[in-house]
Amino acid sequence: MPRDLAAGMHDLSFATTEFVLPHTVLAEHNGTDIAKYHVGIGQRSMSVAAADEDIVTLGAAAAAPVIARHGADRIRTVVFATESSVDQAKSAGVYVHSLLGLPTATRVVELKQACYAATAGLQFALGLVHRDPAQQVLVIASDISKYEADSPGEATQGAAAVAMLIGSDPALMRVEEPSGLFTADVMDFWRPNYRDAALVDGQESVTAYLQAVAGTWKDYTERGGHPLEEFAAFCYHQPFTKMARKAHRHLLNTCGYDTDEERITRAVGQTTAYNEVVGNSYTASVYLALAALLDQADDLGGRSVGFLSYGSGSVAEFFAGTVVPGYREHLRTGAHREAVDRRRPLDHAAYRALHARSFPADGGDHPTPEQTTGPFRLAALRGHKRVYERR
Ligand code: HMG
Repeated sequence: MPRDLAAGMHDLSFATTEFVLPHTVLAEHNGTDIAKYHVGIGQRSMSVAAADEDIVTLGAAAAAPVIARHGADRIRTVVFATESSVDQAKSAGVYVHSLLGLPTATRVVELKQACYAATAGLQFALGLVHRDPAQQVLVIASDISKYEADSPGEATQGAAAVAMLIGSDPALMRVEEPSGLFTADVMDFWRPNYRDAALVDGQESVTAYLQAVAGTWKDYTERGGHPLEEFAAFCYHQPFTKMARKAHRHLLNTCGYDTDEERITRAVGQTTAYNEVVGNSYTASVYLALAALLDQADDLGGRSVGFLSYGSGSVAEFFAGTVVPGYREHLRTGAHREAVDRRRPLDHAAYRALHARSFPADGGDHPTPEQTTGPFRLAALRGHKRVYERR
């Protein structure tokens, strides 16, 4: 029998970038039939970070409304999950801690395992809350996805941050035990320290993801998880939204069901609205799927939702959550729609200029152009130090 942990997600907020590149612009530039993007991979646009935006400013923008609503008195741990880290030693979470004015009596750490790390952060947070139910943990997932220009991966870029407040007696979703786990050493997608853009074997990555779906589900059911029929919906990691459909089809086949497009739409159809316009936000993606589901679905109070978190390389986890009755009063639907709608569209030349940007490594003073209009900005790299500003 699945066991309710009486702890879980108390708040969920996401932020995305200043700019957006519609896939129509990319298709016009590279001569691709737009149907390949809109239908073939299920993407309509992708968020593009401004010159004065990074995972820290996005993470702070996602978390600020959570702190504004709940205060920081109970938060003693901040977990920052990312695979687009800006420093090999210092956690990006320490900058966010400073920008949000959190108390000094806080532990802050950065976690990495490709797109999976936020789920590790969530599970570690539940352990801390179990140890002391008075404490809350702020889990931030923030990423900017970048592939080589003109590569097949280019159309699957994106960026966003999610902030989740994890605690006892949660307002949105209780997380359950067991989880189904899967790890396999595969080179489907990786980014060596000396590269800005990820390397990827696209078809291998899709195969590796599907193997992880079957692997986590096997472990989940062996440990007494819910049968497939008991789930109201499934939130998958969505590098592109068609992947959620591929993954669910694979899960149905693994469980001995025929492929049924309507059944797939019922399971994942309300989870893709944010990811199809934001693009791949790596660690944040599966929780953007949850935000879309909660913001759009009819009342899910008391229902089970399945989560498949996948991180290339690879580590994956399948787990279940129970939506808390009354959760709709605590949603941020208006703010989420505004985060997506406020982005300013780029033309192709402006997108490519941003794509090509990187800071010189000479230790000089490198101010950034003021492009953002949000609450936080990366003002400069000065003497190898990142300088952030709060508006
Ligand atoms: P590609 O070679 O550009 O595209 O690669 P394709 O030829 O495979 O076509 C894609 C789909 O579009 C196909 O559908 C085509 O049939 C269809 P499918 O067979 O897959 O159902 N298509 C069309 N449909 C309608 N009208 C048309 C048309 N033309 C073609 N005219 C690929 C696509 C996703 C592989 C590439 O963009 C890529 O390499 N992306 C990056 C890797 C990636 O996202 N992998 C996903 C799994 S791994 C993962 O999720 C982890 C990750 O998030 C990283 C992490 O964990 O940190 C990436």
